[in-house]
Amino acid sequence: MPLQSLLDSLWSNIVEASKILYQALYKTPLVYSNLLSKATGCNVYLKLENLQVTNAFKARGAYFKIYKSIDIARKAGVIAASTGNHAQGVAYSASVLGVEATIFMPETTPPAKINAVKRYGAKVVLHGEIFDDAYRKAVEVAKETGALFVHPFDDPYIIGGQGTIGIEIAEQLSNVDAVLVAIGGGGLISGIGIALKRLKPGVKVIGVEPANAPKYFESRKAGKIMEIEPKPSIADAVVTKSIGELTYSVMNEVVDDVVIVDEELIAEAIYMLLDKAKVVAEGAGALPLAALLSGRLDLKRKNVVLVISGGNIDPTILHRVIMRGLVHERRTAVVSIALRDVPGELRKAVNILYKYRCNIVDIRHDRFSLRTPVGYALVEIVFEAPEPDVIDKVRKELSEIGYLIE
Ligand SMILES: Cc1ncc(COP(=O)(O)O)c(C=O)c1O
Repeated sequence: MPLQSLLDSLWSNIVEASKILYQALYKTPLVYSNLLSKATGCNVYLKLENLQVTNAFKARGAYFKIYKSIDIARKAGVIAASTGNHAQGVAYSASVLGVEATIFMPETTPPAKINAVKRYGAKVVLHGEIFDDAYRKAVEVAKETGALFVHPFDDPYIIGGQGTIGIEIAEQLSNVDAVLVAIGGGGLISGIGIALKRLKPGVKVIGVEPANAPKYFESRKAGKIMEIEPKPSIADAVVTKSIGELTYSVMNEVVDDVVIVDEELIAEAIYMLLDKAKVVAEGAGALPLAALLSGRLDLKRKNVVLVISGGNIDPTILHRVIMRGLVHERRTAVVSIALRDVPGELRKAVNILYKYRCNIVDIRHDRFSLRTPVGYALVEIVFEAPEPDVIDKVRKELSEIGYLIE
């Protein structure tokens, strides 16, 4: 199909999706963040897809796809392969539309992810060691049974559903200058990009990928679809080997720029969204803020929308990100000190912390490992400080009663 007719037909899918989706999904809020605007020098607006059903945008595409093929879905059910947000989006949409869903996942999938899908009534089939095995099996079973296979991104109806976010943004912020969107397989940014280029032609659409999985970044550079060997990322939802064929042609038309960001910056962005905007984002959902923090974009004083595409972050990962953020901001500190192994030394250390009104979070004591000098006890203290400069005072006084270990 010629490119212009393809874009026209995808745009009509988006318009059609916007007429039916809200029977089952939310129009998510767009909120201005004062503190993030101050921190970045832009006018920052957050499009809160973490508040969408299943806490990610994914049900938009899945619902529209199943709705458009409802006869097949009723007869033979729907099938998808995913361990994450797509699985939940398909399971939710199938349950609302009254059809059976089967989700294929690798055998190594953690129980929490399996249960997240089962609670929407879907059947889960565990197959193979890695995701690719589960994916191949899902496609094979769909062919055998005639079930509707719901692709996570490379499908005109999936793009149609995801594009409704673009219509909402154009309605919610008439003077929007730029929209930042995470790229996994590219369905989300393709849909949003098509809608915005129709409704607000001057808007810049900027894609963001983790440096550990730069599929579109590499493909755009090479001028053809590149398959990469991704490394693990805290933005796990967008770690794929490649983008789609359909999404690649669309992205080349509607994406103005693509930025890659490292893991540190993604963690910092998750922490800032929590601390400054009280928004829970998963790694992929925080990519747009990470791009803004990277300093690679010239958007000062512009009206910038960050699509917070999902909030499904594992609480243990969130806990680690928060602790790192607190240490980075010097609200919490970790100090290791070798103290003489005689009664009363630990008490001296505790007294110093007490004097500066520091709250002890954890103390670990180690006398026996080989890294502890004989006659000493290694003590690691985690504490909250009332002011950042208190940490320096505490460290100085502690160094007077033992050896600080860096
Ligand atoms: C939270 C989140 N953000 C972004 C994406 C990327 O979407 P797409 O694969 O359509 O590019 C995904 C994909 O699963 C996701 O779950």
